[in-house]
Amino acid sequence: MQKIVFSGVQPSGMLTLGNYLGAIRQFVALQDEADQAYYCVVDLHATTVRHDPKTLRDYTLMVSKLYLASGIDPNRATIFVQSHVPEHAELAWLLQCVARTGELSRMTQFKEKGGDKETVSVGLYTYPVLMAADILLYQTTHVPVGEDQKQHLELTRDLAERFNRDYGEVFRLPETIIPDVGSRIMSLDDPTKKMSKSNPSEMGRIHLLDPDDIIEKKIMRAVTDSENVIRYDPEKKPGVSNLLAILALVRGEHPEVLAEAFSGQGYGALKRSVADAVLEVLRPIKERYEHLTDEETLKILREGADRAQAIARKTYREAAQAFGYICRESS
Ligand code: TYM
Repeated sequence: MQKIVFSGVQPSGMLTLGNYLGAIRQFVALQDEADQAYYCVVDLHATTVRHDPKTLRDYTLMVSKLYLASGIDPNRATIFVQSHVPEHAELAWLLQCVARTGELSRMTQFKEKGGDKETVSVGLYTYPVLMAADILLYQTTHVPVGEDQKQHLELTRDLAERFNRDYGEVFRLPETIIPDVGSRIMSLDDPTKKMSKSNPSEMGRIHLLDPDDIIEKKIMRAVTDSENVIRYDPEKKPGVSNLLAILALVRGEHPEVLAEAFSGQGYGALKRSVADAVLEVLRPIKERYEHLTDEETLKILREGADRAQAIARKTYREAAQAFGYICRESS
């Protein structure tokens, strides 16, 4: 069976070290292993909460460039913008008629984002169904994501299974790829919370394009604890363990092994090593980003959308036909 990888990132803010270590790094590694890889900039998802149209346009281009700067190669993977392939919204509608209000009400991200308030958009509620459509359109076999997307992936499988059972085998059930370490990089100023691009606190997150001195400052000021003992224990020592996890990921080592290597040293020494390692891993990304023009990026996105749409259209037609929508043209 072909290995088909799909994943997406919302252009809803500056991408963080969490997005990179939890997701984008896996995208780069998987483009070589997969027969097909699709990496989408999910702009439709970024409008489920109030947004500024100009900022959305800027972020859409920025995320696309960061995909490229991080090492995603448009010759090996398809990079495209979600709204350029209207089949995503079309299949989402169909799947909304398969999804149940009960299962969407149980989504923890929806609840965390204030799902109980009457003023949240209907789009925020149906967001996970659009995500399922993204994945199922490409007959995806593997979806690399951070830990926070796990429940959405379970819903995707449930919807695919229900559709296949009730209307015929159309969709493949995807597997989730969540890294053992790095699936949840924590905020630097509050290590009990996830590092998030939409969190108001700037000190808690490292932006991939932050200047070196700012990155250093954020890491050197990271909240730890008063014990001054280096040990990997995410429950009891979330701050120190988060720093060890970041260092381990960047260096390709294990956080427990690093903890031993640092034993007897103070938090200052650990932070210095983390800062140096992060600066080193982000430097080439920042350099490549600077050299990418809007024109070449837009060209890559156009070609990507053409390639993606050819596949998406085929799957959508099969699903629509099985569901009872008659096709305008015969395929
Ligand atoms: P988004 O834009 O919030 O995040 C993009 C990816 O980064 C991961 N991530 C993290 N990983 C580790 N530590 C963190 N602190 C951290 N913060 C974010 C996320 O888990 C994600 O993998 N709904 C998705 C986007 C999406 C999608 C899809 C993903 C839309 N359709 C289809 C996969 C397949 C989201 O909001 O990701």
